[in-house]
Amino acid sequence: MSNYHIKNLEEYFQVYRKSIRDPESFWEEIAEENFMWSKRWDKVLEYDLSKPEISWYKGAKLNITENCIDRHLYTRGDKTAIIFEPNDPSEKSEHITYKQLHERVCRFANVLLEHGIEKGDRVCIYLPMIPEQAISLLACARIGAIHSVVFAGFSATALSTRINDSDCKMVITSDGSYRGNKTIDLKGIVDEALESCPSVKTVLVAKRINSEIAMKPNRDKWLLPLLDEAYHHCVPVVMDAEDPLFILYTSGSTGKPKGMVHTTAGYMVYTAYTFKNVFQYRENDVFWCTADIGWITGHSYIVYGPLANGATTLMFEGVPSYPDFGRFWQVVEKHKVNQFYTAPTAIRALAKERLDFSENYDLSSLKILGSVGEPINEEAWHWYNDNIGKKNCPIVDTWWQTETGGIMISPIPYSTPTIPTYATLPLPGIQPALMDENGEELKGNLVSGRLCIKFPWPGMARTIWGNHERYRETYFSTFENKYFTGDGALRDSTGYYRITGRVDDVIIVSGHNLGTAPIEDAINEHPAVAESAIVGFPHDVKGNALYGFVILKEIGETRLHENLRKEINQIITEHIGPIAKLDKIQFTTGLPKTRSGKIMRRILRKIAEKDTDNLGDISTLLNPEVVQEIIDSAI
Ligand code: PRX
Repeated sequence: MSNYHIKNLEEYFQVYRKSIRDPESFWEEIAEENFMWSKRWDKVLEYDLSKPEISWYKGAKLNITENCIDRHLYTRGDKTAIIFEPNDPSEKSEHITYKQLHERVCRFANVLLEHGIEKGDRVCIYLPMIPEQAISLLACARIGAIHSVVFAGFSATALSTRINDSDCKMVITSDGSYRGNKTIDLKGIVDEALESCPSVKTVLVAKRINSEIAMKPNRDKWLLPLLDEAYHHCVPVVMDAEDPLFILYTSGSTGKPKGMVHTTAGYMVYTAYTFKNVFQYRENDVFWCTADIGWITGHSYIVYGPLANGATTLMFEGVPSYPDFGRFWQVVEKHKVNQFYTAPTAIRALAKERLDFSENYDLSSLKILGSVGEPINEEAWHWYNDNIGKKNCPIVDTWWQTETGGIMISPIPYSTPTIPTYATLPLPGIQPALMDENGEELKGNLVSGRLCIKFPWPGMARTIWGNHERYRETYFSTFENKYFTGDGALRDSTGYYRITGRVDDVIIVSGHNLGTAPIEDAINEHPAVAESAIVGFPHDVKGNALYGFVILKEIGETRLHENLRKEINQIITEHIGPIAKLDKIQFTTGLPKTRSGKIMRRILRKIAEKDTDNLGDISTLLNPEVVQEIIDSAI
């Protein structure tokens, strides 16, 4: 029996039990049998969760790109590694074979070397979903540079904060990007960001939309001529198992974004293993994950997980609504996609449209459907199951996080019976625990509490860039010797997990993690604003939308409030990006506060949800009278 590829429920339980009984030998066998190592590890796992210090495959040497590309060259050299499907359906798609990918990554890696990038240097990638994006990640990994991808929907301010946090030496971007029928001036955003980024010496610019852009002498270089001139071979740099592979920023409930650091060997083993099992990938399948590489889902399940398995992975540049709401399904038909992995927010948006958008296409190639990023509601699950899967495709509701590197709780298709809204069972090697308010683990079934993981797994982030104490404090201080996820969950009578949502001040809007603090900080920059508080409220497409309660310095005339609302959203767009815009803004004269001055978001949340009948005891507030005023003027 191979541990690597689970094929039925009995095998799942066997493998799971083994992985818990003896995690080291479980992860050792997987690493041994499926990857290419320059040197074997001395020890599979060393850890101390109180510090926390975690080391997987200590002493091993490898390069992840050899595992993702070179080792497939003899057996799969002419197989398509990446299918690129452009924004505009009339533009030709591109098929990049493993051989071609090898050559393109090597050339790109040589361009990085020629521009002084060395092992351990940070390179910021701010690109649309074009092949250069995947290739640039791999080129960094080839020479041991640490990539830091910033989603190309983030604003100049958000970009510069991330570049400065990890002192990136280089930015890789493009002249612009396509998004449906719009173009976005990415290079202009980079120029603005770089006004305050002294560490950046070089900007490499890919051509995508052929727009006229300013090129700063000595700093900005067109990528294409450099690639053409570069040598097509590049010897991979030998990395230690625990050398950082990349940094990826995620929002916290407070403070600036956290640069989660993932390291080389553990991340590779974990993403490869979870990809193979959760999507039951078979040779010659075409796998499509609709995420952007700017998020962890794209890193793990567009680039590293699929390529480590020699898979064909599809990159889509466009949006589900352009040129019409049938675009996803047209791509499925065109490329005969076998596994399709998307977010509930996309499913809900498409479910609102006419059925013939999906009925017009042949979806019979589909075998497995996936969902990620937020809880999938029952209605969306059924729509997905009935209309896309035709009740024939298992749906994998995969729960995980930027911090976990790969999927943690998910059905294994054809093995785990699925139930709508349940992420079901932990993958082998994953030991979830539900904790009560007093820090005690809730044993047995039919319990709900805070979701922790009580044993290390290879894909976990090792630290927050430049701030290990924050890493300890955020994830390992709430419950002793356990990783705290920030999510709540319940375990039903059969042991299945259902994720119930965040228990902190992170709000998930359209599958994107947004911390309330940075949004409030942005709003408070407006000269008319004295104070603000953001909460989430249910939204039928986005899952959650943002509701802002804003105290103005002077009340002003009501007719000016509409302009103020626009200006507040403008400031948020500038500081963070359009994804963080508020759906509702209510002006108020006060916010409910505890006697120690803390805003009682619980009460604001209830008001935003229009559930004001059970606000609980408000008499202990510093200013209970303000609650009625807020209820009366709620939107
Ligand atoms: O609240 C959980 C939610 O998304 C959070 C992680 O967000 P991020 O780091 O951006 O990574 C998203 C993609 C992996 C989690 O803490 N979440 C993710 N998947 C699910 C989910 N909530 C419920 N069900 C899921 N399947």
